[in-house]
Formats: sequence, structure tokens, C-alpha cells
Amino acid sequence: MPECAYAGPVSSLLRIVRFTRSLAPLYTAVIVCSILTAVAALTVPFLIGNATDTVAGAVSGETAAGTAVRTVLLLAAAVLVAELINTVVSNVGGWFGDVMSNRMRTILSVRYYDKLLHLPQRWFDGEITGTIVARLNRSITEITNFAKMMSNSFASMLITTVAVLVISAWYAWPLTVLLLIVFPVYVWLTSLTSVKWQRLEGEKNEQVDIASGRFAEVVGQIRVVKSFVRERGELEDFSRRFRSTDATTREQSSHWHRMDIIRRAFLNLIFFGIYAIIFVRTVQGEFTLGEMVLLIQLMTMAKAPVESMSWVIDAAQRAIAGSKDYFRVMETPVDPRTAAVMAARPADAPDAGSADGGSAAAGATTAVETLTTSALIEPVPGAPVVAFRGVDFAYEDGDDVLHDIDFRLERGEKIALVGESGGGKSTIVNLLLGLYEPRNGSIEVGGHPSSDLPLDQLRARIGVVFQDASLFSGTIRENIAYGRPEASDEKVLEAARRANADAFILRFPEGYEQVIGERGLKLSGGQRQRIAVARAILKDAPVLVLDEATSALDTKAEIQVQKGLDELMADRTSLIIAHRLSTIAEVDRIVTLREGHIDEIGSPEQLASSGGIYAQLLDLQHSGDTRRLARYDITG
Ligand SMILES: Nc1ncnc2c1ncn2[C@@H]1O[C@H](COP(=O)(O)OP(=O)(O)OP(=O)(O)O)[C@@H](O)[C@H]1O
Ligand SMILES: [Mg+2]
Repeated sequence: MPECAYAGPVSSLLRIVRFTRSLAPLYTAVIVCSILTAVAALTVPFLIGNATDTVAGAVSGETAAGTAVRTVLLLAAAVLVAELINTVVSNVGGWFGDVMSNRMRTILSVRYYDKLLHLPQRWFDGEITGTIVARLNRSITEITNFAKMMSNSFASMLITTVAVLVISAWYAWPLTVLLLIVFPVYVWLTSLTSVKWQRLEGEKNEQVDIASGRFAEVVGQIRVVKSFVRERGELEDFSRRFRSTDATTREQSSHWHRMDIIRRAFLNLIFFGIYAIIFVRTVQGEFTLGEMVLLIQLMTMAKAPVESMSWVIDAAQRAIAGSKDYFRVMETPVDPRTAAVMAARPADAPDAGSADGGSAAAGATTAVETLTTSALIEPVPGAPVVAFRGVDFAYEDGDDVLHDIDFRLERGEKIALVGESGGGKSTIVNLLLGLYEPRNGSIEVGGHPSSDLPLDQLRARIGVVFQDASLFSGTIRENIAYGRPEASDEKVLEAARRANADAFILRFPEGYEQVIGERGLKLSGGQRQRIAVARAILKDAPVLVLDEATSALDTKAEIQVQKGLDELMADRTSLIIAHRLSTIAEVDRIVTLREGHIDEIGSPEQLASSGGIYAQLLDLQHSGDTRRLARYDITG
């Protein structure tokens, strides 16, 4: 993250304003209401000043009591009108402020989500879900809280102050000079506070975000926590992180309050000067009593924003810290291919495309249907459906997980990947889906380098069942139809039947509308797998990738699913990963992997007698050594 992007606190906040410029009408409404509120508030001191002079005149006998009473009553009525206007307009402004800050929250949240959905798989590998969510909530809440506070009171206070400066210059310029000194000194003292405050706030936020991330993970996997009796340990870690923020808060707050004492003492000193001037000049006869009352009220009005500046600055600092966190994610570079997939924007971010600092997709064409964003690229006739050419790959800097992977999948062909656990089979699937880029070499899909294909098109061609079934909360129907939400009930039923899921689904009281819990928690492992298979079947893509798609099924269920899959694979190109060799006995070719290298490629018959990994596996299977077979523990 380039630090220089956050040149100053003000620029951070200005970025938020620019980022949410579609709210300009609401900003304007808030400002207009603030001005009206300020004007109404400013008339009151004049009216009261006037009343004071009238009273003084009556007391000293200059004006007749009757006239004076009429005048002061009129003035009191005028004060009433001004204050009523103030009351109503400030509430109207408050309404606009609420709407504005909520719209702001919507825009910021939608953009953040949009951005996250654009980020490459690699980014997610390094993040904890709960931490991302906690960071989003905190930063957006703090930004919008500040916006609300500004609009509900501080804006009108600032406007009042400017007016007071001008008015006081008319009566006595030394007052203006004194007031003018207050603001820059206040801002300067605050900026001194700010650096340390922000650093400490960042430290606190980090601890809270980590704790929240762990919290979400623990809740998501509470079964494991309970079974290993780790409740106490998890709780201790959690409370340790939160307790550490106590110490930081103490330091942060005492720093803040020390500086606030200096700031406020300075303000008190300035106001000593201001009152001295007003009193002395009144005694000397330069100001009437009314003018004195007027000036005292004006000065008090100017004091309010300065005094409340401490909490405004506090909120502003949180908002600045929040906006930094926010923009740190928003500025994460996005692979333009990933961005193109999400070129379609949600309806409630109408101007998202023109946003400052927006994702790389900003400016991309808006389209409702993701899959129609780019013209469909036809496969090159005769080219292999998938070709890996000399692919090297590493997840992180360091040792390669795949070395020189080179194989082809011809149209209609079924290929199996066989190899030890951790050998890189699922990694090949990840690369094929464009979730990661190869370090060397290339992958071609339909004769086109996959890096040239729009990711949505690439992925639309591949139906995949991942090694972990990866379902969503919601109903069974929603899960099966995840890739085609518009699919008819018949299609969903058909897919479920083929995946041998129909029977168990219908046993649920709610059938296809059964809610299956987070990540499908309420289903058995085998049931989850069959839903995942049905989901891939419904997608009806020309290439089918099965990563141990039936590993959790008993032999009978597996044979049934296999029947459905065989039908499906008949007119399709398939890549199958399975550690149960019966599942891959019928494939056209087998690619064996050893420590990230391709060991052999050949038909099941050829490899059965070659003495390689596949042959060893077959031997083990035949010799009944299922214990060693269980996870291909045969590298030796
Ligand atoms: N997201 C990731 N980040 C870093 N390393 C990873 C990541 N995913 C997998 N790896 C590493 O890459 C290697 C290959 O993993 P992969 O999942 O491809 O193995 P596999 O052949 O599918 O194994 P299995 O049969 O157990 O599923 C492993 O050593 C693993 O530790
Ligand atoms: Mg795997």
C-alpha cells in the first residue's frame, strides 16, 4: 500500500466525499439546512442585544416604559420565530443527514464487497474471513458516524463561526484576531496529537480484527473446538487480544487528554482576552450594554465549535483511520481479468464505475448479465479442449508445487489425475479455473491461451466439483441452482436425480426447500458431495472437473452417482481426480503425478503394467492393503 496516497487526514476524508459523489444532492441539502440553521441562530444575539438596549433605555428613563414593553415583546416574539425556524430546519437537516449517512454506508459497503469479489484468489489465501468482515464493519461505521455528526451539528456550528468572525470584525477587530488565532493553533495542536493517536488506534484495530477473525472461525467450526476441549484456550486468546487494547487505550487516551488540556487552556486564555476587551470597552463607553450582550453571545457561539472540536476530532480521526483501512483494500491491485468478470455493477451503486480510487473494474462497461459482458470466444476447431504446456507453479515465493506440467485433454476425452496427497492435483484444477496464474508455461483452453480468455468465459466452460463440497447456507434448491439461479424446477430435479441426490432430498420434510445450515452443515459429507455434483451437472458446461467428487460416498452410492456422471461425461471432456481407482478404471488416459512432476501418461492398461504409481496403487489395492492405500502413501 503506498503510504503517500494518504498524504493527510483531510485528503483521506476528501477521498470519501469524492468516492461518494453521487450523494452530492444530499450533501447540498445538508449544507443548505446548516446555513439556514446558522442564520436563524445568528439573529438571536442581535434581537437580544436590541432588547438589552431597549431595557437599558427604559431603566435609565430615556424611553417610555409602554413603548419599551411593546418593543421588547416584539423582540421576544422575533426570538421565538428565529428559534422555531432553527428547531424545524435543523431537524430537516438532521433527516437529510441520516439519509445521507445511510446511503453512504450502502455505497461504501457495496463497493467494498464488489471489490472483494474482484480480488484474486491469492489475496484471500492470506486473509481470515472474520477479519475482513470486522474491518469492513468498523471502517464503514466510523466513516458514516462522522458524516452523520458533521451533518447533524458541526456543519452549522462552523458556518456560525465564520459569520461570527465577520460580524465581530465589524464591532472590534481585536476580537476577530483573537478568534482567528484559536483555529490554526487548535488544528496544529491536534495534528500533533493525531500521528500518535492514529498509530495507537491502528494497533487496537489490528488486535480487534484478529480477535474477530478468530471468533468467526471458531463459531464456524465449533464442533472441532468442542471436541478438542479448546473453549477455554480460544476464549483466553480472545480476551487477551481485547485486554491488550485496554493498555493501548490508556496510553492513547491519556495522550489525547493531555493534549486536550493544553488546547483547552489555550482556548480559555484567548477567551480571557476576548472578555477583557469586551468588558473594558463597554466600561469605556465604546459598546452599549446591548452590544456587549450581543458580542458575548456571539463569542459563546464561536466557542461551541472549538470546544466540541475535541469530539469532532476524535470522530474524524476514527473516520480517517477507517477510511485508510477501507482504501487499503480498495487499492489492492486487481487482475484486470478478474475485474472484467464483475463488470456488472449492483443496482444500488449506480455511479460505481466513475468512482475515485475504485476497483480496477471502475470504468468497465456496466452490464446486468455477467456472462454476456464479453463476446463469446469460440474454441479453435481441432485444438485440444485443455492443454497444459510446461507449466511451473508456486503458491508463494519458494518451492514450486508443480514442475513442467504438460498434458492435453482432447474433445470428449476422460483423463484421470493420480498421485500422492499434496502432489498438486487440486492445484492443477485451480490453475485450470484461472484462480492462479502459472509461473512459467501456459494453459490453453479451446486453443486459446487461458490468460487471454475472459475469466467468466473460461469458468463458464468448466463445471467443477471441488474436493470440499463448499455449499452455502440456504436451501438445497438454491445450492443446486447456484450457477443457474434461473433454472426450472425440472432441471434442478433432473440434476439431483443424476447425482443420486433425489432420494435423500425427498426424505427431508421440506424436500428441495430444506435449509442446510452454514456451508451445508446439516448434511452428511456424502450428501454434501452429491449436492455439489448436482450443482456441477446443472451448470452443464462442456468441461467437467471432478476433484474427488465421490470420495465420501459408500460404494453403492458411488456407483449410482457414477452412473449419472458417466451419462453426463459421455458427450463431455472430463478431468477426474479420484483416489478410489474403481472410479477411474474407465478413463481414456491417466496422468500420474509425483512430487509435482508428471510421472507417466497412458491408458489404464498401459500404466497398469509400467510399474509406476498407478501400478503400485493397483497392486496395493489387489493385495488388500487398504490401510496404506487410503491416502496414496506410496511415494517410496
Ligand atoms: N492456497 C495454498 N497456498 C499455499 N500452498 C498451497 C495452497 N493450496 C495447496 N498448497 C500446497 O500445494 C501442494 C499441492 O496441493 P494440492 O491441493 O494440489 O494437492 P493434491 O494433489 O490435491 O492433494 P490431495 O490428494 O490431498 O487433495 C501442497 O503441498 C499444499 O501444501
Ligand atoms: Mg486435492
